Amino acid sequence: LRLCRLLPCFRRSFSSQGAASMIDQRTSGNVSVIKLQNPPMNAFRHEVRAGLVEGIKKANEDASVKSIVIHGDGNVFSAGADITEFASGGNALEPGLISVVHHIENSAKPVVAAIHGLAFGGGLEVCLGSHYRVMHSKARIAFPEVNIGILPAATGSQRLPRVTDIATAVEMCTTGMPVSAKKALEKGIVDKVVDGDVVSEAINFARSIEDEPVEPRRVSKMRVKANEFTSAVFDAAYDMIAKRARGAAAPVFNVKAIEAAVNSKSYEEGLEREHGLALPLFVGSQARALQYAFFSERKLPKWEIPGGAVNYKNSTPIEIKEGAVIGGGTMGSGIAICFITSGIPVKLVEVNQEYLDKTLSTIRKVINTKVEKGRLSPEKADQQLSLLQGTLNYNDLKNADIVIEAVFENLELKKKIFKKLDETCKPETVLASNTSGLDIDQVMAAVTSRPGKVVGTHFFSPAHVMKLLENIRGKDTSPETMATVMDLGKKLKKVSVLVGNCPHFVGNRMLGPYGTEASYLLEEGALPHEVDQVLEDFGFPMGVFRVSDLAGIDVGYKSRKDFGLITREGQDDRFRNGRRYCPVADFLVERGRLGQKSGKGWYNYGKVGGRNPQPDPEVEQLILEMSEKAGFKRRRITPLEILERCLYSMINEGFKILEEGIASRQEDIDMVWLYGYGWPRHTGGPMYYARNQVGLGRIYERLLYYQALNPDVPHWEPSGLLRDEGMAKLFRSSKL
Ligand code: NAI
Repeated sequence: LRLCRLLPCFRRSFSSQGAASMIDQRTSGNVSVIKLQNPPMNAFRHEVRAGLVEGIKKANEDASVKSIVIHGDGNVFSAGADITEFASGGNALEPGLISVVHHIENSAKPVVAAIHGLAFGGGLEVCLGSHYRVMHSKARIAFPEVNIGILPAATGSQRLPRVTDIATAVEMCTTGMPVSAKKALEKGIVDKVVDGDVVSEAINFARSIEDEPVEPRRVSKMRVKANEFTSAVFDAAYDMIAKRARGAAAPVFNVKAIEAAVNSKSYEEGLEREHGLALPLFVGSQARALQYAFFSERKLPKWEIPGGAVNYKNSTPIEIKEGAVIGGGTMGSGIAICFITSGIPVKLVEVNQEYLDKTLSTIRKVINTKVEKGRLSPEKADQQLSLLQGTLNYNDLKNADIVIEAVFENLELKKKIFKKLDETCKPETVLASNTSGLDIDQVMAAVTSRPGKVVGTHFFSPAHVMKLLENIRGKDTSPETMATVMDLGKKLKKVSVLVGNCPHFVGNRMLGPYGTEASYLLEEGALPHEVDQVLEDFGFPMGVFRVSDLAGIDVGYKSRKDFGLITREGQDDRFRNGRRYCPVADFLVERGRLGQKSGKGWYNYGKVGGRNPQPDPEVEQLILEMSEKAGFKRRRITPLEILERCLYSMINEGFKILEEGIASRQEDIDMVWLYGYGWPRHTGGPMYYARNQVGLGRIYERLLYYQALNPDVPHWEPSGLLRDEGMAKLFRSSKL
């Protein structure tokens, strides 16, 4: 943990406080009760660590004491290491956390950890240093280190697989997900779960074991719980990481640390290995990127518009007591689910009874599946479903505080609906659109008498699963309305980002050049699976063509048709509106290849709805023909070129978005991509990646290079912001 000092993200000021004030020690009969007192999270800063070691020593020297209980002050046991200490080096002062854990374990008198609230990271390591663990039924334990690119390096990775099975240890360390008291008991991590006052219960428990020998309870002396299935567990974990977090080092190193526990001859040897694995993680770029993502996400609720005049502090949301959704298709049904699962009543409007019944039944199915899978109680499900009301009548929306329109992406239809909503809803009602990219000002606000109340709420599909909510402020959207949709996002448990109004907003606008470059690469020499492989190796869960097959290639086709880009069936001119145009996707749709839903698209799936993509010779043939027709001399395209063209074109668009004030901060853009498009978190997001991992000088150079080769492709025109910062970087790196 001494290495944590190297992490700049965590640098904060260090103020010293006396050890005495951070530990409270009293006796209850012959139990010594030690309280950690560093509110609000009882983090293990130096005074707490020193005080705890001192407390254990005192209790061991006191002949009247027979056992020891450790607990946390306030609402939690402990959230672990104190990140505010890292700048001062306080975390490097002895005793370090490893030493504290060993002092506790070496106590001759039994030590019981009383866990309430949460015991995370170093907090859990201290509990595993104790001889027994008593946990409140509502408390949670976790090793969330993986989320910030590190591993539980104060003995945690060596202790956990000694108290629980390897699969559980791997799951906890690679996902960082909190574990309930029930599961912790089942999995052998704690000894007793109690309701009521956990400290009194732990004291009673301590009395009941005070004469038991301590030696067999020392976790470091226990055998690692490996068996004949262990290597299969590790293989499955590596496979899962390759699928879900390809390229991320921390999950891999967490598994390696547990493997070290299994394979080492002794606890001490395993501990050395744990340290050896932690070292490169602590100093690596991925940890910094993940910590950037961690802090960026926490910055989102502190929204502001460019210039900062309107922000979260000076804007008050209206309370949403009831919501409404227009259109119960793919998006509308998901949005309605978000409302009811967050306890907000919602009215859902459809065009006719048949469609209404269909969407209500879809929603019921989603909720009931949760019950079947044991993720929701039947009572809770009934309660949630009672909040949903379907209707065909706009007059039923009179009490709605917000209406979210989610009908087809059709300009005239949306206009008609906003007009009707404006006439029917009370004047305070916020009118929102889930459009993927239409103009909030021209299409929606312009037809209402309340432009200040009009806003975009762009959910991602499936809306009840995807975390991102991209809220779009129009030119007249009031601060109150902005605050309302940001607050709604919080209530719906979304990661909400406030952005400005422009065609396709932030996420889809950047997706444009990314997808376009991918299709140009096909014409010039690559095949869909080659492009996807490079993007997946970079860390995207799916490459651009697999995503396109999943979403349906016809979705983009319809939209291009609406914008007049598909002028004649099978037309093969290479330009639209004076720009290079690649029609391969159009040809696929016209041949009935719509993606997974038709069994074939960019790939062949074997059957309708199939999930296993296989490269298809028919597609390859079509691509070759199109290349030839268009006069491209196909060539081998390197993975580097694929990556640069897909990513740098999109990053350039991100800088234009920042420059135009569509996004206020680079963190907003990065979070859109992390939560909406599966950008690999361990690289921080496109903007962070460009600045901190590639370098803006390099990006600027490559933009100019590709621009020179493709003068008819406007997305290679460097953004002014990127040009200025990139030039400055290039100049600074010169020897002048
Ligand atoms: P969809 O085609 O699945 O559903 C649209 C629904 O609206 C249909 O059920 C239809 O019956 C209903 N509808 C049409 N006119 C209506 C009216 N006058 N009153 C009430 N209901 C009406 O469309 P989807 O995919 O749900 O898209 C809806 C909106 O969300 C579009 O603007 C789309 O661009 C946007 N969007 C779609 C995403 C996606 O992945 N599907 C992602 C994000 C946004």
